[in-house]
Amino acid sequence: MIILAIESSCDETSAAVLQDGKILSNVIATQAIHQKYGGVVPELASRAHQQQIIPVVEKSLTDAQVTKSELNAIAFTRGPGLLGALLVGTSFAKAMALGLSIPLIDVHHMQAHILAHFIDDPQPKFPFLCLTVSGGHTQIVKVTDHLSMEIIGQTQDDAVGEAFDKTAKLLNLPYPGGPLIDKYAQTGDPLRFAFPLVEMPGYDYSFSGIKTAFMYFLKKETTKEEAFIHENMADICASIQHTLVQILLRKLKKAAKETGIREIAIAGGVSANSGLRKSLQEEGKKLDWNVYIPKFEYCTDNAAMIAMAAYYKALKGHFCGQDVSALPRMSW
Ligand code: KG4
Ligand code: ZN
Repeated sequence: MIILAIESSCDETSAAVLQDGKILSNVIATQAIHQKYGGVVPELASRAHQQQIIPVVEKSLTDAQVTKSELNAIAFTRGPGLLGALLVGTSFAKAMALGLSIPLIDVHHMQAHILAHFIDDPQPKFPFLCLTVSGGHTQIVKVTDHLSMEIIGQTQDDAVGEAFDKTAKLLNLPYPGGPLIDKYAQTGDPLRFAFPLVEMPGYDYSFSGIKTAFMYFLKKETTKEEAFIHENMADICASIQHTLVQILLRKLKKAAKETGIREIAIAGGVSANSGLRKSLQEEGKKLDWNVYIPKFEYCTDNAAMIAMAAYYKALKGHFCGQDVSALPRMSW
């Protein structure tokens, strides 16, 4: 079975080809245009997807050495994401499936982030817990099968990726700030500055308070010393990153302890963060977990993960009709 998968939920236009569970190609075009606006501008994202989608799909087919007539199904991200961005991928996938008279497979973007763990070995064993951390989501998901997932905890306000990006913006770093905080943090002291750890009930998270605390901290310090940010960038980034990672891991440890699950994975854009990856490995050693961390190329948005999720749906015969619509907020 050969599947072409399309991802267009935010600011990456991506297409991948999968054959019988193996990824043959994965092409990603990142939209640089948003950098100068300090965040993703939805209308510009939709336009860029329209410009990129055909060259990206063509390259994915060429890289995979597969022709259109060999495709057995077209998969696409149905949601969650930006409506205008999702509409480009959804409409493209529908038109292509119609033209080739082959079935369509709709994919949930966050479930696909989790199923990226099945692209390569080692693969987590069921049941496992997945900390799913991106620009729009922060969740602890209990995964009992490729297609059976339950959110047991999640953020009640901002996502952790948003917390990285917003704190980076306060430091005058360009969008997306998460990777830059990570970069500066490498040479900084994570314990130099302390920020409050907000305690939420159960396995839930909150990140809006930390952003406000950080804003007041910077205001106070820059009033005393104008060059404070410039002179302390590495320590500030290391400290904020340490705080965010501690918040993430506290609830993950609680969930692992209370569910008795020791197969632990991370997924989503923030799983590229080196502080999170390192701390998770260390905790895993201490607590005797089997830890699963995706390759960098499968952390941020990509169509290979959409293809993988589509493959498991296709095996169960879960196809969708041509009347399907994009869903900016898609339930599980
Ligand atoms: O999964 P993703 O590519 O898109 C969404 O579905 O949201 O995640 C993007 C998020 C952004 O907030 C970005 O700043 C963050 O992932 N991110 C990172 C790193 N790489 C990407 N955050 C911290 N450290 C990183 N190395
Ligand atoms: Zn994502």
